[in-house]
Amino acid sequence: MYIRKNQRNLTSAEKKRFVNAVLELKRRGEYEDFVGLHTDFYNSDGEGGPRAGHMAPSFLPWHRRMLLEFEGALQRVDPNVTVPYWDWTTDNTPAAALWAEDFLGGDGRARDQQVLTGPFAYGGGHWTIKGGVTEGKFLTRNLGRPSAPISLPSKAELASAMDETVYDAAPWDSTSASGFRNRLEGWTSDREQPWLNHNRVHRWVGGHMLGASSPNDPVFWLHHAFVDLLWDRWQQKHPKATYLPRTRLPADDPQYGRAISLEEPMPPWDVRPSQLLDHKNLYRYDA
Ligand code: CU
Ligand code: CU
Repeated sequence: MYIRKNQRNLTSAEKKRFVNAVLELKRRGEYEDFVGLHTDFYNSDGEGGPRAGHMAPSFLPWHRRMLLEFEGALQRVDPNVTVPYWDWTTDNTPAAALWAEDFLGGDGRARDQQVLTGPFAYGGGHWTIKGGVTEGKFLTRNLGRPSAPISLPSKAELASAMDETVYDAAPWDSTSASGFRNRLEGWTSDREQPWLNHNRVHRWVGGHMLGASSPNDPVFWLHHAFVDLLWDRWQQKHPKATYLPRTRLPADDPQYGRAISLEEPMPPWDVRPSQLLDHKNLYRYDA
């Protein structure tokens, strides 16, 4: 059992070890596997076919498993490293220590959103973005989207997700109007506030965090560790609520074969959501 800490409480030595382990996975070429995994499972509900990672009930267990895979890879490099979490309701400005030179580095520059500071700046020679021919080789960010400013989710906005009493609701996709999963994942048709919670954090960071290859920005892991922690908090708040759908959807349900129920395997791991509802034997959060 190990502890995942709030990034704001890491010592400089702990920050360094996390960064070094991430850089080592990059050097070995293993980091690209995680970017590829996320890209492969970025299918949306408009596309048809099964959805394991996004716009679906299994959004939370799927990302929990992905984080465990990544954390395991980090720990094979350095057994003392765990994935920190970023509480974006508190550390909610570009001035947060998260973005300092000794940790994740700062914002992208105005011209091309290229990150120029910290260990993941292209100029440092250790963080070249691989993949699409049309994309640049350098990490990009656009913190707060200055051209059309957005803010990180507030505690009040997050409370609207935490107050949901059921885990998820039909039609089990990005249009689910109630349920914790979609309020936290953050799809909505509200034109005033088109991105909530988890989704808005991706929008706020901008650059690589906007798309399917968002793990190219290491802040992805800290963001999703906090999302994972929030699932814990929601379970504590609603102890009688369970993962939904509990049973396989009937064949006449439009989401049959598309949304994963409690005991159906999640690709690519062949692990069921029921196996990921409790992680306390593996890791705990410091909050
Ligand atoms: Cu994702
Ligand atoms: Cu995400």
